[in-house]
Amino acid sequence: MASLIELGDIHFSYGSVPVLFGVSFDVQPGEVLGLLGTNGAGKSTVLRVLAGLSSPSRGVVRYDGRDVTAVPAETLCRQGIALMVGGRAVFPDLTVRENLQLGGFTVSSDELETRIERELARFPQLAARIDNLAGSMSGGEQQQLAIAKALLMDPRVLCIDELSLGLAPTVVASLFDVVREVNAAGVTCILVEQSLTVAAQLCGRAVFLEKGSVRFTGDPNELLERGDLARAVFLGSGR
Ligand SMILES: Nc1ncnc2c1ncn2[C@@H]1O[C@H](COP(=O)(O)OP(=O)(O)OP(=O)(O)O)[C@@H](O)[C@H]1O
Ligand SMILES: [Mg+2]
Repeated sequence: MASLIELGDIHFSYGSVPVLFGVSFDVQPGEVLGLLGTNGAGKSTVLRVLAGLSSPSRGVVRYDGRDVTAVPAETLCRQGIALMVGGRAVFPDLTVRENLQLGGFTVSSDELETRIERELARFPQLAARIDNLAGSMSGGEQQQLAIAKALLMDPRVLCIDELSLGLAPTVVASLFDVVREVNAAGVTCILVEQSLTVAAQLCGRAVFLEKGSVRFTGDPNELLERGDLARAVFLGSGR
């Protein structure tokens, strides 16, 4: 099957500090891909490059067979690539409704109302708190709002940076159910995760980054068995 997204030999530096060293992988339509690695490995940077927020110094990003390396994030967003950054993706001083209205800026107002209703049906906890300030809600509810905002754009590709960060396992499990539901409806998902055990529950395939390079691509359960790669922090305990 043709790849939906391809990253080829991506290099990236923050100023003069190089952090990605020839990252290559592809994303198949309809899959849930895990982007794994320890702190500072470059996961968030890879997502930023993929979503058009950062331009690589070398390499190419292809989306649907087209070279989109120089296409800005707003355009890619309109073309279906949504990026959600966990824990930072809502405006705390705006209400739930205001957050949703802003999140759907690319959608016409009638259509937006329909889509907001759809997301409120998906997330009853948000419906119950529609006029509350986003910042007054629990971490899990804020993540729900962040996902709802991303889904308002009817993305083809949903990229999530740290869905599970700082949340209790039961809360994470219910967010994972949403990702599964969205994926079952045809949305390709790319999840950045620090915990391999968490990722293995959800991702059919994993890309493991270390110090800005890809060390492994394949079945996350196979990665679990690779002690050399998957040690310590990576198994998700003790953090
Ligand atoms: N805005 C920035 N300016 C300078 N260096 C940065 C910036 N953002 C990230 N870095 C550095 O780039 C490297 C990769 O960072 P990145 O945030 O992509 O890693 P990550 O895998 O997402 O890490 P984490 O698990 O901690 O979120 C790190 O060494 C980090 O310190
Ligand atoms: Mg990160």
